[in-house]
Amino acid sequence: MRCPHLPDGFDFTDPDLLQARIPHPEFALMRQTAPVWWCTQPANISGFGDEGYWVVTRHADVKYVSTHPELFSSNTNTAVIRFNETISRDQIEVQKLIMLNMDPPEHTRVRQIVQRGFTPRAVRSLEAALRSRARSIVETALASADADGSFDFVTNIAVELPLQAIAELIGVPQEDRSKIFDWSNKMAAYDDPEYAITEEVGAEAAMEIVAYSMNLAAARKECPAQDIVSQLVAAEGEGNLSSDEFGFFVILLAVAGNETTRNAISHGMHAFLTHPEQWELYKRERPKTTAEEIVRWATPVVSFQRTATQDVELGGQRIRKGERVGLFYSSANNDPQVFDAPEAFDITRDPNPHLGFGGGGPHFCLGKSLAVMEIDLIFNAIADVLPDLRLLEDPRRLRSAWLNGIKQLQVSAVPVP
Ligand code: HEM
Repeated sequence: MRCPHLPDGFDFTDPDLLQARIPHPEFALMRQTAPVWWCTQPANISGFGDEGYWVVTRHADVKYVSTHPELFSSNTNTAVIRFNETISRDQIEVQKLIMLNMDPPEHTRVRQIVQRGFTPRAVRSLEAALRSRARSIVETALASADADGSFDFVTNIAVELPLQAIAELIGVPQEDRSKIFDWSNKMAAYDDPEYAITEEVGAEAAMEIVAYSMNLAAARKECPAQDIVSQLVAAEGEGNLSSDEFGFFVILLAVAGNETTRNAISHGMHAFLTHPEQWELYKRERPKTTAEEIVRWATPVVSFQRTATQDVELGGQRIRKGERVGLFYSSANNDPQVFDAPEAFDITRDPNPHLGFGGGGPHFCLGKSLAVMEIDLIFNAIADVLPDLRLLEDPRRLRSAWLNGIKQLQVSAVPVP
């Protein structure tokens, strides 16, 4: 179906578009006029096929699809950890070992196991270590700023804590962390030519992570420690992960827990710098609702996908078996049917039923409480150590078909004269 309101060829997964801006006006138009719309343009997402795809923009419809895995499968590359513009058959098979791309009952088995590492207690046990890391990351950024007080917020602050959190979670020894950081960065699914990550470099990094994690698993099996690896691989069998399953789980964490939280932190800082009254409020009251609003506002994952398992009606449209369905979280999080004044950045927003961590259902973000804790810890540290940050330039945005990313945010630690 041609959309009468959008120019021909308009595509919500166009990396050039998403690098320039999130298409909020077009999302608003679609929510009003064609909330479930067939985009004839092939999506810019590998593994998505050459056909068009359904664009789902309303909060209620994104939730419906997410909570009905029997109608909308995750099995055909919901998330593709990819290395360049093309994806081979072998790579597609490998993607299926990643839980984000599994359906029940395989997904249920793996999710039940890995959930043990993400209980409220497990996440709380990381808090003290991450609090002091957050503080030292911010202090180091200040100490290493240029003479005029300027530094890049993304590389000096936003990148660090999510990597440290994952390393802490899976018990990577301090001396190995820089390797994990390097591999994670190389493997990240950038569409941005500036990073010049070749297929070979990305694939090699992914293999290195799998090999490293499998060795870590084997070592913990021999000699258990107080970390999630030891819990997940304690003994081979139904209730545990095999070493290679663990390797693929770590790959997912390195991508799912890294880029997302990094971009939430960068967007959160940019939102504070452009809404100074919210920053003043934060410094004074540190509302507990802040992190959720940052994730709604930023919506680091613009969209994920599903595939219809049978013909099904959605939003007055007939979706056919096998057709791809894009869930546009960025649109759902600005749906005025659900949010009062969605265009306002309001850190006291409560309730805040945003879909930034997914629309509910079996794949709802496993790391949500860890992410919320990281965002709280880093902004607390910034408010204590760098209360007068100011913005020097507009952010440089990431080129990506599905991430709302910032790759550079120049700020100054020197108070406004
Ligand atoms: C799944 C967003 C942080 C681990 C997801 C999904 C989204 C998401 C949208 C897919 C939900 C679905 O398909 O229904 C985010 C955002 C984050 C964040 C915006 C930060 C602000 C993290 C962290 C971790 C993590 C810190 C772990 C260290 C995962 C995993 C899944 C997932 C393992 C797959 C769950 C499954 O398939 O059952 N996340 N995430 N995420 N996330 Fe997060």
